[in-house]
Amino acid sequence: MAFLQNAWYCVGWSSDLADKPKSIKVLGKELLLYRCADGTAVAVSNVCPHRFAPLDCGRIVDDQIECPYHGLRFDRTGACSLNPHGSGTIAPNARLQSWPLVERAGALWAWMGDPALADENEIVQYDYVTDSSWTGFTGYLHLDVDYQVVVDNQLDLTHSTYLHAKTVGAPRQETAEGRDRREYRFHTADGIIHSDAVRRDTPPAPIFRLFQDRPLGDIHAPMSLYLPSNLILDIATTDPGAPKSSGSRLPSAHFITPETETSCHYFFAFFRNERIEDARITARMEELVRHAFVEEDAPMIQKCFDRMGGKDLFELKPVILETDAAAVYARRALAKLIRDEQLKNADA
Ligand code: FES
Ligand SMILES: [Fe+2]
Repeated sequence: MAFLQNAWYCVGWSSDLADKPKSIKVLGKELLLYRCADGTAVAVSNVCPHRFAPLDCGRIVDDQIECPYHGLRFDRTGACSLNPHGSGTIAPNARLQSWPLVERAGALWAWMGDPALADENEIVQYDYVTDSSWTGFTGYLHLDVDYQVVVDNQLDLTHSTYLHAKTVGAPRQETAEGRDRREYRFHTADGIIHSDAVRRDTPPAPIFRLFQDRPLGDIHAPMSLYLPSNLILDIATTDPGAPKSSGSRLPSAHFITPETETSCHYFFAFFRNERIEDARITARMEELVRHAFVEEDAPMIQKCFDRMGGKDLFELKPVILETDAAAVYARRALAKLIRDEQLKNADA
């Protein structure tokens, strides 16, 4: 499986990168992240070109990373700045690959492709992580599955009624024929893939009951995918029939970054706009979300992925439901972007 290289991938929450260097594998590459004295975060290779030592175990000296094995130093651009041995000659191949790294709205974003094509305006837009009119939490989960099955999971929130009934899912509402009374709409606009659901006159999901008192309301759950794998769910509950903007809001970010072909990083954030001064609600929200992800989503996704036996989803000829429209479209759109990128690289 190939990855889309020319894209911004989330490589961490800003708050998790302090004075110690950190390592993260992205698209099969070992990245080292660290902060310079002025606070700027940088991303260079985490593999020393001498004997391939992991640099994240080294120390930062004047904005340079010092290899913990034999002491070569590299600056923030990846150039070798010191060879402490012999005459001190610096070999031409004593250089670390570096990647454009941007810090935006509480997250760190690495551009994994051609640096000349990196455009910061393409980073997904959201504000609640760093805007004090919201409160919430950020988190991280490592999953041993292809990142695309995690994107599938998020684009099809019908699962939340079944898998997350006790945590983040809205209760079942069925017609006399036993059909789910959820209204669903899939559409695309400006390259963003939207998978939107609305439930009307429904009791709120357990997570909403933590901070709002409506016994019945409408739940608006618009999910947007920014290819390749960054999602925003701008969920809200309102009084029946009221506009979404008037409601109790609980927007969440789901940034999924491939680690290898069979593993990925999942960075998530959940924020709310009501009763923001109550830290106990935030703690309880986090508990519910962690339970939903760790005890409900992760084991289910893992078991499904294991049963796919390493095969591509479409090769397995899965049953496609109407509510799979966004996930199917997203997989095809991403496959085309990857194919186009490969053809362009082959021509170059
Ligand atoms: S492995 Fe890094 S200096 Fe030798
Ligand atoms: Fe889920």
